[in-house]
Order: sequence, then structure tokens, then C-alpha cells
Amino acid sequence: MGNKRGRFSGRLGFVAAAAGSAVGLGNIWRFPYETGENGGAAFLLIYLICTIIIGLPVMLGEIAVGRKSQMDAYGSYRNLGNKNWGMVGAFGIICGIMILSFYNVVAGWAFGYFIQIVFDGLLVEGKGNYGNYFNSYVADFWDNLIFSFVFMVLTAFIVIRGIKAGIEMASKVLMPLLFVILITLIVYALTLDNAMEGVKFYLLPDFSAVNASTIYSALGQAFFSLSLGMGALITYGSYLKKKENLFKAAAVVTLADVSVAFLAGLLIFPLVFSQGQEPTAGPGLVFVALPTIFEQMGPLMGRIVGGSFFLLLCFAALTSTISLLEVPVAYLVDERKLKRKKVVFGLAALVFVIGLPSMLSAGAVDFFTNFMHYEGKNKSFLDVISDLFSEVGLVFGGFMLTLFITFKWKTKKMTKELSEGNPGYAKSILKSLVNFSITVLSPIILGVIFVITVLQKFFGVSLF
Ligand code: PHE
Repeated sequence: MGNKRGRFSGRLGFVAAAAGSAVGLGNIWRFPYETGENGGAAFLLIYLICTIIIGLPVMLGEIAVGRKSQMDAYGSYRNLGNKNWGMVGAFGIICGIMILSFYNVVAGWAFGYFIQIVFDGLLVEGKGNYGNYFNSYVADFWDNLIFSFVFMVLTAFIVIRGIKAGIEMASKVLMPLLFVILITLIVYALTLDNAMEGVKFYLLPDFSAVNASTIYSALGQAFFSLSLGMGALITYGSYLKKKENLFKAAAVVTLADVSVAFLAGLLIFPLVFSQGQEPTAGPGLVFVALPTIFEQMGPLMGRIVGGSFFLLLCFAALTSTISLLEVPVAYLVDERKLKRKKVVFGLAALVFVIGLPSMLSAGAVDFFTNFMHYEGKNKSFLDVISDLFSEVGLVFGGFMLTLFITFKWKTKKMTKELSEGNPGYAKSILKSLVNFSITVLSPIILGVIFVITVLQKFFGVSLF
């Protein structure tokens, strides 16, 4: 067909790339602090339920849409639907750009921590008070600027290399390494005094702490962590061949994503409790809890292990930033027929500029640091963008996807697409469960939660 679009080499390539997209700061940075702020085990449980009954079916829907149309997010909705539905894809592309703008800033923090631990004195200077260290670190404009700039450049270079050589290669090597280091650190953390208090907080649910905001945070976390609701998996699905079994692929991606999040919690909470810190510390949680164990390992081992941890966190973030950038890139390459290289650099520069206020919002500039006030808290510019696009935006995108499949594209066609490479699918019970979720369960839950979230967050209405 003379089709010049890239392709994954096969299921393993796709799974590695999609799992690479899913596993990122969402699992290791965001999941533990969300769990900590929302009461621990009960949040974990609700998050797991959301992932299985809504996340996995929506993921299948996205991949099916992408593989069927073989186009970018906008093109997929337009092709299988019409121009109006294309707006849903366009909205996803905008979410991708906005999420990347702040995600890249946090990735810059991780990168900065890697450099400071290995080549500089983080474990000496921060000694005894990593909280202060973190606060002054993220308030430093130049550190933010330089490290997030480097991170954006790395992302751009991999995306330029395209699907197989760039995205797929990076993910295949890095994902397994991440598991190994996480497990090693957990074994160590569990031996510390008081570690079991952390395990209890994490694994024994206290349902009295559950309210509406626990539920929407858990749902938002599930969507963010699985990279759903903005077309990342539509785009990756469009690089897949027809013969691949999509159900298996989606199941493996979900499992990998959940496992890494679960392990991250199992590492962080024992640490937090053994150090007598508060699990409710918020976005600084990982950056404050971890350095203490690296310090206890002694100067050399601390540098090696701490350095490897933050390096892998950077890699996990990188395979996610790649996918966030690929969504708008695919749109401009597919629809506007622009050259990949030009598009990548143009977009990377744009996203970097959009990210500047986020960089200044962790203490550097007061206006951005205390940008708004809602949910009884001061919110920084970064918080606001994150709430708007990575919680509300993704849930909305997922809601629209379920409506699209139910009313426009039709579940019959989705089943047909999912049966390619998986002949038994149409007759299986799985099909009925997936279709029930897409047509009934998910749209209702996503729709209701979307409305409640918007009312509660931005209009101060408290419903529960
Ligand atoms: N899933 C990624 C993470 O957990 C973030 C992401 C969201 C990536 C949406 C792509 C699309 O870090």
C-alpha cells in the first residue's frame, strides 16, 4: 500500500511500548502519594477495581479503534465516526500536550535527583531533612529549567527515531530492569523497624476513610496510570498488525502497570512509617522517603543503588513522555502530512514553553505556586493543569470513547476487530463482559464521576 506509517515488530514490541507508556511517574511518584493522601488500603482496592472493570475494557476499546483505523487519534474518530467525533480525538491530543507539559517537569526532578545523588552531595546535604532538601530543590528555577530541558530533548530524539528503532527498543530493555530494582529495594525496606506499620496501612482497608473524592481520585489514577482517555493507545494500536491478539496484549499491559504501582506502594509505605513520616505528604513523598534508605546504605552503595533507582525512574518516565509526544506527532504526520523530524522538534519546543509556569510553580514564583484555591487547598499551576487534564480530562475522554463505541462505531465492530488474531473471542464470556462494561457500566460510572468531580473541584459543591 506504500503506507509509510511505522509499525511495531510484533506483539512483544507493542506490549513493551504500551507497558512503557503505562508504567511511569504515575506508578512510582503519583500512585504512592495518592494512596497516602486517600487513606491507604481502601484506595488501593478501589483503584484495582476501577482498573479491572473500567480500565481494561476502555483500553481494549482504544486499541481496537486504533488498529481498525490505522490512524492517529483524531483521524481514528473521524474515520470510524465523522468530523464531529473527530473533536474527541482532538481533545485527547490537547490533553496529551498539556499532560506532557507538567509531566516533563516532574521527570526533570527525577533526573535532577539522579544527578545529585550520583555526582553531587544529595545524600550528604539533605541528611536528616530530605523534606527541606526537596522543597528548596524544586523551588530552584535553573535546576528545573535545565533538567526538564534535557528530558524533553531526550524524548524528542527517541520519538524522531520512530516506532521500531526508538520507542520499541527503549521500552524492551528498560522495563525488566525496573522490576528487578524495585523488588530488591522492597526486600531491603521490609527489614526496617516499623516497616510492618506501613504494610498494614497499605494492605488493611479502613473504609471509613472512603468518600466521593477517594473514588474519583482512584478512577483518575487508574486512567492516568494506564495512559487511557487521550488516544495514546489509539495511536499505539494503529501501529499494530492485524494478526495480533489484542486481549492478551491489553491484559499484559494492565498487569505490568498494576504490578509496578503495587510494588511502588510496597516500597514507599514501609519506608515512610519506619522513618516516622506522614503518608499524606503529597507530591514530595517519594523524593523525601527514599533518600533516607540510600543514605543508610553508606556513601558508595547509596550512590549506586540510589542512582540506579532514580535512573530507572527516569527511564520509566521517558517511555511515557515518548507516548505523550507521539500522540500529537502522529496527528500532524498523518493528517497534515508534515515531516516527522520537524513536527517532533516543533512540538517539543511548544510543550516546553507551555511547561514553564509549571516549572515555576513549586516555590520559585509565588503567583504560580499559589495559583488557585479549591478543595480546601492552595493549588499550584502544576496542580491545576494536572487536575484539569490528567484527572478530569482523561475521565471525560474515556467517557466519550465508551459513547463512541456504543452509539457510533458499535460494539459489533469492536468485537470483530478484537477477534482478529483471537478467533475464539466473539463467542467467549470475556466478550460479553467487555461489552457490558463499554455500553453500560463504564459510561455510567465515568459520566457520573466526571460530573461530580467537576462540581466538587471547580464549583465548590460538596455532594458527599
Ligand atoms: N501512564 C503514564 C504514567 O503512569 C502517564 C501517561 C498518561 C502517559 C497518559 C501517556 C498518556 O506515568
